[in-house]
Amino acid sequence: DTTARIAHVFRGTFVHSTSGAAVEILQNCVLGVDDQGKIAFIENDRDEESLSKLWGFGASDIKQLGQHEFLMPGMVDTHIHASQYSYTGTALDLPLLEWLNTYTFPVEAKYKDLEFANNVYTKVVRRTLKNGTTTACYFATIHTDASLLLGELADKFGQRALVGKVCMDCNSAVPQYKESSILEDCYPKVKPVVTPRFAPSCSSSLLSELGEIANNNKLHIQSHISENKGEVELVKTLFPGCKSYTDVYLKHKLLTDRTVMAHGCHLTDEELEIFHETGSAISHCPNSNISICSGMLNVRNVLNHKVKLGLGTDVAAGYSPSMLDAMRRTLDTSKALTIQDPQHKTLSFEEVFRLATLGGSEALSLDDQIGNFVVGKDFDALRVNVCVPEGPIDLFPGEGDDRNITEVYVAGRQVVPFPDT
Ligand code: GUN
Ligand code: ZN
Repeated sequence: DTTARIAHVFRGTFVHSTSGAAVEILQNCVLGVDDQGKIAFIENDRDEESLSKLWGFGASDIKQLGQHEFLMPGMVDTHIHASQYSYTGTALDLPLLEWLNTYTFPVEAKYKDLEFANNVYTKVVRRTLKNGTTTACYFATIHTDASLLLGELADKFGQRALVGKVCMDCNSAVPQYKESSILEDCYPKVKPVVTPRFAPSCSSSLLSELGEIANNNKLHIQSHISENKGEVELVKTLFPGCKSYTDVYLKHKLLTDRTVMAHGCHLTDEELEIFHETGSAISHCPNSNISICSGMLNVRNVLNHKVKLGLGTDVAAGYSPSMLDAMRRTLDTSKALTIQDPQHKTLSFEEVFRLATLGGSEALSLDDQIGNFVVGKDFDALRVNVCVPEGPIDLFPGEGDDRNITEVYVAGRQVVPFPDT
């Protein structure tokens, strides 16, 4: 059935992950995107003539990728605090619990001011898009209006997003939960995610209420878990009836196949088994984990337990909003683990590329829609030029930055360069 019309055709090299290969490089191929933003075909360019007849495009419609260019899937940031973008890189001298009380909670309180929120949220959406984050799983703040505004801005600039209004009722905040699930019906690519901040800032009754809302409405869930040893000890004293930190979320029905928990540095193998059984995912945020001395997640061990895992920038405990940085830091942490234990099998660059794209889509249970170049999925893609700003400087994504990402597409819509620049 070729009733859909073709909106884009690219010819050249395509790099993505598949269930079988961490990285598959497809050369001399043509990829078509239909007017619904979905990948219509990806074939060898030998078949271009028959494809052009079948789909009704002409030679002039084809965008030829240059010798130093390729397309890759958009990257998925599985954990980022949009509200903390305003102080990125400025306050990394305290461990988690002190860091929250000293820097984070005072800044987040400012989001009752919608003008402040509009300024920061506009910047974080644009900056992450420009850096190739086509899907972001955001924490906002406790403020419903500002959280809805973040959803509106993601939609306006064309980013796919899960947006979480933060819920907390202990140790520093207002006991309120006004659900942002009105987002559900507002935008095609922006959805709500139920967001208990983390066990220490939620009462048992709030956690139960959120578990119920998420399960009744089949919503995504996000929170934090086992980031820092002091936090793990605190959770033991706050929830004495629970066997582990993981058990706290399990008992409150917050571990589902649409759950993503940030960090998990100090989870035991037994807890990882619960993640596997419930289909819950971990967001690995290596920049943050080193920046505030939280711990080093053994990603290899998580993958061996067949737990879904994506990467996150965790701005602002992580000081970079770039997923390319998250990839590099993932390799660094894995190498540090190998230094500690030579038996540890270091992650490869190819594995890390997979985690930033397909892995992230799996972690957010969006892999039926995004994550790689499979016919029928949405076309979320980055056009990468390894030779910018000038001359062959061989910046492959492991070393590159936003200058190497010349175009960004989300569901077939070109969102970078921005229409206003
Ligand atoms: N745990 C609870 N809240 C936060 C937060 O804002 N950042 C990080 N890194 N960990 C948390
Ligand atoms: Zn976080």
